[in-house]
Amino acid sequence: MRDGRKSQKSSLTENTGLTGKSLAGKSRASKGATFDVPAKAPEQPTGQFPRIRLRRNRATEWSRRMVAENRLTPADLILPVFVKEGGAKREAIAAMPGVYRHTIPSLIELATKAAELGIPALALFPVVPVERKSAAAEEAYRADNLCNRAVAALKKAVPELGLICDVALDPYTDHGHDGLMEDGEIVNDPTIDVLIRQSLAQADAGVDIVAPSDMMDGRVGRIRDALDAAGYQHVQIMSYAAKYASGFYGPFREAVGSKSALGKGDKRTYQMDPANGNEALRECALDVAEGADMLMVKPGLPYLDILYRVKQEFRMPVFAYQVSGEYSMVKAAAANGWLDNNRVVLESLLSFKRAGADGILTYSAIEAAELLRG
Ligand code: PBG
Repeated sequence: MRDGRKSQKSSLTENTGLTGKSLAGKSRASKGATFDVPAKAPEQPTGQFPRIRLRRNRATEWSRRMVAENRLTPADLILPVFVKEGGAKREAIAAMPGVYRHTIPSLIELATKAAELGIPALALFPVVPVERKSAAAEEAYRADNLCNRAVAALKKAVPELGLICDVALDPYTDHGHDGLMEDGEIVNDPTIDVLIRQSLAQADAGVDIVAPSDMMDGRVGRIRDALDAAGYQHVQIMSYAAKYASGFYGPFREAVGSKSALGKGDKRTYQMDPANGNEALRECALDVAEGADMLMVKPGLPYLDILYRVKQEFRMPVFAYQVSGEYSMVKAAAANGWLDNNRVVLESLLSFKRAGADGILTYSAIEAAELLRG
């Protein structure tokens, strides 16, 4: 019955492996000439329809499962989380339905659940009180800052869970930029000195992976050297190597409160131009040479081509960050009944695997792991 659905005519025009003669007919058609569909099928070369029917392998659930080329598992998922001060309740984030600014106790609950679901790691983002922000971002490397206290508490409560900390100054600067500002410019080398102090403080607190997300030049190498010199040879570096100046970070900036600080400012003098692909490979090559253990491409879905190229080129662990705006778009469409949330969550995550990702940072990690568990 399935085969009967296709008419002789449509199976002919859909067939891409036609004889030389028919292909010539096709190219004429693309130039605007009439395409004559032969009344009868030409002799099929061996290996073509009707012997070959790709739908055979797709016909049953078990067969589709058997031939699946990629598989999504909870081990592919990294959960980014927001942590705030205070013992009060967690706070909803308007632009990210289902995501919260956690207190340290509620974060421990969430982390426990993530670990139980088989999620290997958490990426921590602190919501820094305004009065702790400054031009020199001193709070970034204070031993007892919110991020470091959260790391220590999580390591104690859920030791089997990997912890990743962002290395960048945007939660800590009063202007919301990832680096230090002098005369209206983000200055590279003085910023690195602060990033190093921030990384060391995070390592002291017990972080497993530092993830420089600031896009300053040369920071990976200098952070690696500083960690090694301090006896932190085992601390891994996941570099936000190809991080684009993207509009998709909007909800995140609301979540951590760097949006109002940044105002109309943008990060185009350090984050990458969305027009560029080759440049992403240069960024990655430098970070690899400087000692990055893992690379990241960010945002996710709009940059799958970059992810694919980075994986092909470097053949090392590569991660995609499905960022806040990507998450919020799906949630908004699903809330309107325009998309089936569960289906598109799993489909988009699987697409990262297909493109070559070893893992995905996603705010959907918990819901996806629950769906995968069934
Ligand atoms: C900060 C940082 C940002 C994100 C991760 N780390 C925002 C930015 O660069 O402005 C974005 C994450 C998201 O949108 O989910 N350096």
